[in-house]
Amino acid sequence: MLRTHTCGELRLADVGATVTLCGWVQNHRDHGGVIFIDLRDRYGLTQVVFDADVCGAAAKEQADRLRSEWVVQVEGEVRARGEKNANKQLATGDIEVFARRLTVLNPAPTPPFEIDEHAKVGEEARLRYRFLDLRRPAMQRRLLLRHRIVQAARRYFDALGFVEVETPVLCKYTPGGARNFLVPSRLHPGQFYALAESPQLFKQLLMIAGYDRYVQIAKCFRDEDLRNDRQPEFTQIDLEMSFVTMDDIMEVGEGMARAVWREALGVELPAPFPRLTWQEAMDRYGSDKPDLRFALPIVDLSDWAAGCGFSVFEKALEAKGVVRALNAPGAAEQLSRRTLDQLTEFAKGIGAKGLAWIKIGADPGRAEDWQGPAAKNITPQARAQLAERLQVRAGDVLFFGADTLKTVRTVLGAVRNQLGRELLQLARPGEWRFLWVHSAPLCEWSEEERAWVANHHPFTAPYREQLPLLASDPGAVLSQSYDLVLNGNEIGGGSIRIHDAATQQAVFQALGIGPEEAQRKFGFLLHALSYGAPPHGGMAFGLDRLVMLLSGAESIREVIAFPKTQRGRDEMLDCPTAVSERQLAELHILTRLPPA
Ligand code: AMO
Ligand code: AMP
Repeated sequence: MLRTHTCGELRLADVGATVTLCGWVQNHRDHGGVIFIDLRDRYGLTQVVFDADVCGAAAKEQADRLRSEWVVQVEGEVRARGEKNANKQLATGDIEVFARRLTVLNPAPTPPFEIDEHAKVGEEARLRYRFLDLRRPAMQRRLLLRHRIVQAARRYFDALGFVEVETPVLCKYTPGGARNFLVPSRLHPGQFYALAESPQLFKQLLMIAGYDRYVQIAKCFRDEDLRNDRQPEFTQIDLEMSFVTMDDIMEVGEGMARAVWREALGVELPAPFPRLTWQEAMDRYGSDKPDLRFALPIVDLSDWAAGCGFSVFEKALEAKGVVRALNAPGAAEQLSRRTLDQLTEFAKGIGAKGLAWIKIGADPGRAEDWQGPAAKNITPQARAQLAERLQVRAGDVLFFGADTLKTVRTVLGAVRNQLGRELLQLARPGEWRFLWVHSAPLCEWSEEERAWVANHHPFTAPYREQLPLLASDPGAVLSQSYDLVLNGNEIGGGSIRIHDAATQQAVFQALGIGPEEAQRKFGFLLHALSYGAPPHGGMAFGLDRLVMLLSGAESIREVIAFPKTQRGRDEMLDCPTAVSERQLAELHILTRLPPA
């Protein structure tokens, strides 16, 4: 070893010892002829002193030439700093190393940004110089946390008898779900592999093969539009189990979350996590991933709205829509007229025709104390009913949505989040609100594709007793599926799978995938299902999202060592890139570029 200790290790007990440290020069100060540097490695910082009386004039001069991010080796003696000079912020702050010998292992040019927690650096520069960005303590803490989370998950599943099996990344293209990345085959001209969007089919095949309990920390690839919680390649903690019900898998998934929070954060999560059906979540919170750090429930007022006196609401009802509202208790002071106008614009931006609101003054019993665009027209009787239905008190603000069911859910769900998270700041840091959202509709009508599309994936089992509805009313069929939601983020999801070929055929049929097409695309699965498939199900956690939430980061790019930008590029590698004509020819590929 080139060192005897790390830069985070030395304490008062080491005073007097001769040590050798290696690391990066964090900074360099000249205090009246004595040079001080902070030496940094993954483990911490140690102050090193170059005093000509101790190290000699030559070494001191050499130390004077050191600059940020040079890599050095220092041999010296550990001395106590004394009460007065101790740095209580630093684990090694009671000591310093008086250097006797200095070796420059590698000089470095001036870095494009300071390797510092607090330096404000643009993301593009950070990603281009990711190897420097990753030196920052905040990044190192996040990647170490990620490591601990993965280890905790592995230990948890191993103890429960799960077997870790690797599955292929080069797969067959299957329609539905996310858009796949395609990889041309050199050996089979004109044919393509698809990069696995998840190990879904393989883990089902492993159940058919009798492995009973499978887990994998799996890379998944999806050619999607990117967001803060979406990357084109990301990692799942993926599991599958045989001879189980929904409850069994939710219990195992919940247990993993509990183990991870315990080991990574030292937090004991309460058991059991609450559950809502998809329908309840959509109705009460306008979202399939509600943030339960605040209440703000949405209330259906459709029966109230008929004859309420406000034509906007009455017309929405006549058009077979709904009227719903939410009460932001005591928010009148915080929500200025300007803020309410901005919130209305926000609602319009996501498809609302408007966002009627009412501000309640000091006395909810007085008509004059109901202020806002919807207040004037509402009849006194309707006002009294509303006061009761929404439990109106002085200082409340009411928000209304009147439109199709789908639009009202979306709009009020988003307004609720905007209020709870941003405007009223009701979500406290350090609060963990888990929620299972289960039994979503099996499929949903897509205007774009003019077909029913699977809500989850086409291998999700419907509730048995609803099978007959598949042919007549596919939209009414519910699935044995569940998503795990944390503070309004979907951190995992899964389902019980179809385990017989006949049901799988029927679901394909409902999704507009005919028998021939099903054979061509999923023949291997149907074939395998016919060879004694056990009842099975599973789920997958989004590891990147878990780490993001656990570390308080704003984006999953902060918890992935080498992420892509929002535009899907790797700035450091400078890719994707064009390739040579020769390479394309070898792959039998002609490119047809869009006009510049
Ligand atoms: P699903 O598609 O819901 O399920 O993915 C599971 C979890 O993975 C995370 N996730 C993502 N994270 C980052 N970037 C992305 N682009 C991205 N897409 C998804 C989410 C999500 O909850 N095979 C099924 C699981 C199963 O049924 O067992 C599947 O992949 O946190
Ligand atoms: P208008 O009649 O368009 O001037 O709207 C009167 C008030 O009702 C305004 O505050 C609008 O923002 C609101 N509003 C209009 N349409 C809707 C709607 N579909 N749902 C909820 N509020 C609406």
